[in-house]
Amino acid sequence: MRSHFCTDLSEVNVGQKVVLCGWANSYRDHGGIVFIDLRDKSGLIQLVCDPTDNVHAHKVASEVRDEFVLIAHGHIRARGEGLINPRLKTGTIEVVIDELIIENRSEPVPFQIGDNSVGEEIRLKYRYLDLRNPAMYKTFLLRSKAAIAARNTLDKLGFLEVETPILTKSTPEGARDYLVPSRVHEGEFYALPQSPQLFKQLLMVGGFDRYFQIARCFRDEDLRADRQPEFTQIDVEMSFCNQEDVIRVAEELIVAMFESAGHTVTTPFNRIKFNDAMEWYGSDKPDMRYDLKMVDVIDIFARCDNEIFTGIAANPKMNRIKALRVPGADLVFSKREMKSFDDYVRKFGAKGLGYFQMKEDGLKGPLEKFFLPEDLQLLVERTGMEVGDVVFFGAGDKTTVWDYMGRFRIFIAEHEKMNLIDKDRFEFVWVVDFPMFEIENGRVKALHHPFTMPRDLNHEHLDDIESIAYDIVLNGVELGGGSIRIHKQELQSQIFHLLGIGEEEAQEKFGFLLDALKFGAPPHGGFALGFDRFMMLLSKKESIRDVIAFPKTQKASCIMTDAPNTVDIAQLRELHIRLRETAK
Ligand code: AMO
Repeated sequence: MRSHFCTDLSEVNVGQKVVLCGWANSYRDHGGIVFIDLRDKSGLIQLVCDPTDNVHAHKVASEVRDEFVLIAHGHIRARGEGLINPRLKTGTIEVVIDELIIENRSEPVPFQIGDNSVGEEIRLKYRYLDLRNPAMYKTFLLRSKAAIAARNTLDKLGFLEVETPILTKSTPEGARDYLVPSRVHEGEFYALPQSPQLFKQLLMVGGFDRYFQIARCFRDEDLRADRQPEFTQIDVEMSFCNQEDVIRVAEELIVAMFESAGHTVTTPFNRIKFNDAMEWYGSDKPDMRYDLKMVDVIDIFARCDNEIFTGIAANPKMNRIKALRVPGADLVFSKREMKSFDDYVRKFGAKGLGYFQMKEDGLKGPLEKFFLPEDLQLLVERTGMEVGDVVFFGAGDKTTVWDYMGRFRIFIAEHEKMNLIDKDRFEFVWVVDFPMFEIENGRVKALHHPFTMPRDLNHEHLDDIESIAYDIVLNGVELGGGSIRIHKQELQSQIFHLLGIGEEEAQEKFGFLLDALKFGAPPHGGFALGFDRFMMLLSKKESIRDVIAFPKTQKASCIMTDAPNTVDIAQLRELHIRLRETAK
């Protein structure tokens, strides 16, 4: 029906006849002349209808209201001096209407399209209206281009796109499963996949060599700004490969996807060992857009005259005393603000946050009296303090100190008085050499998943065993992760055993995998990128919901369709389900 999209037009089209289709974004009547801003996916253009030129079209135009669907025939005219609208891409021209068709009407809309000041809830309820905003379209165009770039790159590298089942058996990725009751098998359930992990490994056993999928995954977990109950992964697996091969493919993929959005990314990305990331940045997903690196000062504190610190320093394997130098902090923060930092870290289990200020005549602060002058000098050298800096100390058991000092590092970087984050930068880092296991309340768990290859099992303590696992982190967000997998049945059984999964349970849950590993499984490994998170960062959005067409709320519901909802008793009966009375 149309000859152009609105923003395809400019002064070069003056005098040309056009047919435009879209929605009335706004309507104004100035002394009988009707002005309509017509909107399509590309943006806006002004339509003009003067009753002295065209009585019939003017009559139709007078009926137009917000969000009416219009087909406009007309010609392009340059706007006069002083009538140019610099806020519109098409602000130097307008369309003089020859014929206007109202193709459909609209009731008054609950919010003006593009008005983001209205609550998110109402925008989610009428998501199809929110999607009419050309800025939204732009985000999804970017998403589509990135997906196409991913497909093309992986295709070029010899990867085969394969779909894996949605109705399946539980795949352990650390979250709860979404379950689907079976009508045919009374009392039995399918699980929706938390990832295609086991199927992609089986495709390797099947000899496909290189697989990928833009795969929907489902995880019933607590939601945050970067988590959704259903989300998309770009999921990859390859055979006869080592960690370097996988990392190379992931980097090529990321470069191509960024390129599709006009960004140049240089590879190889930096790498950091898990343990260093924790010791230096207090996080396994460090934001590398700013420095703020912690150093150990436990040896210096061991000599001080304060029992709290010397007590902590007595057990340096379990405990940490960390120093975080913040350049220029003494010049911008008041005493009261320093005190409020103490309150901040206490929320995360700290007993307090000590600090020294670097003045012209050396380190000053409440802790000064506990240290010998030569140890104060050593602290200056160790931390690299200069006049105007503040150094903050965290002391306690290592995991607590890592956690709150890591959070404090981000808090300081984001603080409006420091403003250390360059929002235009993309800083990638690979975090490598993850521990194989984590021990939570005395229970051994796989840090990645139980199919990850350990580097070397010959360690006395389970915590010292490393895995061949890697995460890709962008600007402090975990974008993806992967590992080399176990491809021998005996080793897989041994790992299940270490994880406290008995033989019977292993057989019941993963018997099909253990069987497959008996029939000549090749060495293999892979990774998955969280595509929604990827798009959130690439398009610089605050929330993952902004890059998903029909997202769920923080409570995992869809306000538009009202899912989840109750169903007919008859439907439940067919599924052999009887609901328990719940207290109202
Ligand atoms: P993992 O569990 O680390 O690995 O998931 C890979 C990436 O998926 C994204 N992601 C999510 N995105 C949005 N909402 C969620 N709830 C959510 N959960 C995860 C993250 C994450 O880095 N099978 C392995 C991969 C492998 O080993 O090959 C896996 O799923 O960006």
